[in-house]
Amino acid sequence: MRTSSLAAASLMALALACAPDKEHAAHAGHEPVAPGAVPAAQAPAGNVVQQEMVMLTQTLQNAVRAIGLGNVTSIEHDIHRLHGAKEATDAAVRSGSYQLKKNPDKVARFQQLDHDFHEELVKLVIASRKNDVPAAAEALGGILKGCNGCHSEFRP
Ligand code: HEC
Repeated sequence: MRTSSLAAASLMALALACAPDKEHAAHAGHEPVAPGAVPAAQAPAGNVVQQEMVMLTQTLQNAVRAIGLGNVTSIEHDIHRLHGAKEATDAAVRSGSYQLKKNPDKVARFQQLDHDFHEELVKLVIASRKNDVPAAAEALGGILKGCNGCHSEFRP
């Protein structure tokens, strides 16, 4: 077990925050809460990581909008969907069905960065649940700081 207890606790928080798949399916037809939000219902094309990244970008675009509108309650649901994509990435990286294009020998390092990154997302889930707009903005900043670190090591 390489994950720190903090990471494990955060993953628990995400898992708790995530509704079972059945409920996801029931939510799939929902219109985005924020008017003009980027529709995120269809699985985008590409490999698992590219799909997760497209979903991540849409989620954060919608989060910016929600912050602007002063109601961040919709973000939590988007992040639940993203968590499913993260699990698919995890499984694919572990099984080798997705091979990192840059530094393919550093799988453990990639997984560590991925876990750290998702801890930041947990903060956004918590802010969304409380509809705490300033905390959501703070969390979003922390999340955006994580993009480039992983890309510089692992994005081709
Ligand atoms: C833990 C590592 C990691 C983190 C953190 C991460 N990315 Fe990525 N991202 C990748 C990798 C790896 C690729 C390249 C995937 C490929 O081409 O197979 C990628 C590719 C992308 C792409 C291109 C997708 C495509 O369709 O080719 C976008 C857009 C992107 N990331 C957005 C983001 C944003 C925005 C953030 C931060 C909010 C972020 N990523 C954080 C690993 C990460």
